[in-house]
Amino acid sequence: MADVRPESMERISTKELADAFIEEQIAAIKAQVGDKKVLLALSGGVDSSVVAALLIKAIGKQLVCVHVNHGLLRKGEPEQVIEVFRNQMDANLIYVDATDRFLDKLAGVEEPERKRKIIGEEFIRVFEEEARKLDDVDFLAQGTIYPDILESGPVKAHHNVGGLPEDIHFEGLVEPIKLLFKDEVRVVGDALGLPANMVYRQPFPGPGLGVRCTGAITRERLALVRESDAILREEFDKAGLAGKVWQYFTIVPDCKSVGVKHNMRVVENFVVIRAVNTKDAMTATIEPIPYEVLNRIVDRIITEVPGINRVLYDLTPKPSGTIEWE
Ligand code: XMP
Repeated sequence: MADVRPESMERISTKELADAFIEEQIAAIKAQVGDKKVLLALSGGVDSSVVAALLIKAIGKQLVCVHVNHGLLRKGEPEQVIEVFRNQMDANLIYVDATDRFLDKLAGVEEPERKRKIIGEEFIRVFEEEARKLDDVDFLAQGTIYPDILESGPVKAHHNVGGLPEDIHFEGLVEPIKLLFKDEVRVVGDALGLPANMVYRQPFPGPGLGVRCTGAITRERLALVRESDAILREEFDKAGLAGKVWQYFTIVPDCKSVGVKHNMRVVENFVVIRAVNTKDAMTATIEPIPYEVLNRIVDRIITEVPGINRVLYDLTPKPSGTIEWE
């Protein structure tokens, strides 16, 4: 498939159009790979999940998915990837828990871009190691989408480090969604039967919670980000805000403040809530969140997350603040 979207290509906006696209791609994938094996790094994000589901339909166990848990994923994410792809879709899924390896490499590293670089490089290394164990893999599948090709994805170009495994030779790339825009990928994901929370989930940076646990990452602070983020997401879901706010998450800065719990002074970390709306991530506005919802989130975080004595709400638009804190 060429890298240019033909003008005649209809925008995939309905189940019928998505079904037709899926049939077309199944035929194209079968023709491209024959009886050979295909490798895919499956993060659980919408793009790689849609590619996985398409390839499973087309070639079943000839697809080998590798899910690398770098220890910086949100609560429940690796479990959901295993449940959906291994248990429900019967995929050939290799799960690598590389948490210790990443966190050891990141220990004491404060500089954000250095953290990103380590995460990106280590990811490629882990993926390459898994690929090398499988000596008969011929193709590499990727969740490239059209904005990646157009390079109108300033976010990816700006932030993402790493890339393709360089030392391994593949016969070719399988990129079945490379002419689709994000909204079309979601319609296809729906038609493939992927769970809604996977298909419509908010953007999540490659370095994951690593850039929300500012400064040098510690396991303790990482747990505070993960738990507070899970509470925030749950409350946004319950309040019907999940589809209305572009990105909402928590940050735990590398900083403490004094508080009082059970009549004792406690010096503990604090949580920052960020909830923004944007069209292209270049600028962002603050979404007014109902006070009751904020109150409930604060209550839950200070009672359910030990080690947190204070919750702040970041009201800064972009510019001058970026969406992430690092
Ligand atoms: P900022 O913080 O630059 O973020 O306003 C804009 C958008 O980019 C996401 N982001 C990243 N995505 N790798 C990614 O894949 C990264 O290193 C990264 N850093 C930020 C951020 O979540 C927001 O959607």
